[in-house]
Amino acid sequence: MNILSAKWVITCDENNSIIENGAIVFSHKIIDIDTIENIQKKYPNEKIEEAEENSVLMPGLINSHVHLEFSANTTTLKYGNFLAWLNSVIKNRDTLIEKATQKLISTKLDRMKKTGTTTIGAISSYSFDLEPCVKSPINTVFFCEVIGSKADMADTLFADFKSRLEGAKQSTSKNFIPAVAIHSPYSVHPFLVRESLALAKEEELAVSTHFLESPEEFEWLHKDEGLFVDFFKNFLNQSKAVTKPIEFLTHFSNVKKLSFTHCVEASTDDFRKIKSLGAIINHCPTSNRVLNNSKLDLSKLEGIDFSIGTDGLSSNNSLSMFDELRTALMVHSNENIIELSQKLLKAATVNGSRALGLNKGVLEVQKDADIISFNLPDEIEDKEDLAMQIILHTKFVNKTIIGGVVA
Ligand code: BEZ
Ligand code: FE2
Repeated sequence: MNILSAKWVITCDENNSIIENGAIVFSHKIIDIDTIENIQKKYPNEKIEEAEENSVLMPGLINSHVHLEFSANTTTLKYGNFLAWLNSVIKNRDTLIEKATQKLISTKLDRMKKTGTTTIGAISSYSFDLEPCVKSPINTVFFCEVIGSKADMADTLFADFKSRLEGAKQSTSKNFIPAVAIHSPYSVHPFLVRESLALAKEEELAVSTHFLESPEEFEWLHKDEGLFVDFFKNFLNQSKAVTKPIEFLTHFSNVKKLSFTHCVEASTDDFRKIKSLGAIINHCPTSNRVLNNSKLDLSKLEGIDFSIGTDGLSSNNSLSMFDELRTALMVHSNENIIELSQKLLKAATVNGSRALGLNKGVLEVQKDADIISFNLPDEIEDKEDLAMQIILHTKFVNKTIIGGVVA
């Protein structure tokens, strides 16, 4: 049994409880959480170190959407327009993938840990990131991705997807959980969507998919028009989208652990459907900014919870969740900064846990003991500013605890 204490303990629970001078008792799960005074009374024989000045304890951050296989990109890819980016990914994919060695990916994971991330939703196209994820103390929900819009390729691609998923299952552990990613409505044939979802439902695997990431995707899916026309004609000899957005969403009924990434161009009907599916939206504000100059309209979510993802270094300059939270704070300039900050800390913890189907993200009895500790540079005058000051000032953490162990 371990006990940690801090000036501020942010629980991220339903009531947004913040305990001033709080302590957490934990082994691999959280055993108790209360004020230091009460914990001292309840555990008189346990030593509790005095809380450091301006210290904070909170749930470890959950990056619900990242592509580690693109970790080698810095300045190569084209930004500013989704199609220009997609073409540059296709052109440079082989070189970038080759440069993203297991050593490089492990270095990135280590830096993520130092910046407070305890869990990731890793979207894996080729399983080249499997070993670094298995070796890392960070919890990984490993989404084996299925892609391919051409009917005549569907069987081959499904076989390849199943073999990667089987490979991932061999490494299943408490902190490595295989899952299913469907690339997007424009790039996956309905046959592949149906078959991979049947598999996910049968085994209760988490599922995630990119959805309506750009205006070009909207035009293509709804009207078979726009910049995707040339792309599909040249690249795949196709003139029509394989599905409509609502039709696509309908496939996901009865998936219990479900998330949709981006949704910046989703319609009111799409949001209604996403809500009825009980899904979470993975919000990746930097990626949306650099690829499309767009952002998720938080006012349209109406009861849908969102989590935070960095996306890959293919569309970001950092995999730090604190960097991503600062971007979110700046991008949503129409929102009140204090309220948005509180919402964002929950997005980066408890909502991420829901997106990935885990028992984490809240400092509450019986939840997994994934905890980060760090210090603010100075005192907080007003408790309601805490979330905002944390997002503005935190770059690295002092301690990352995963499953009750210092990682
Ligand atoms: C495909 O494999 O069909 C595909 C891949 C990327 C973008 C669009 C389509
Ligand atoms: Fe992505």
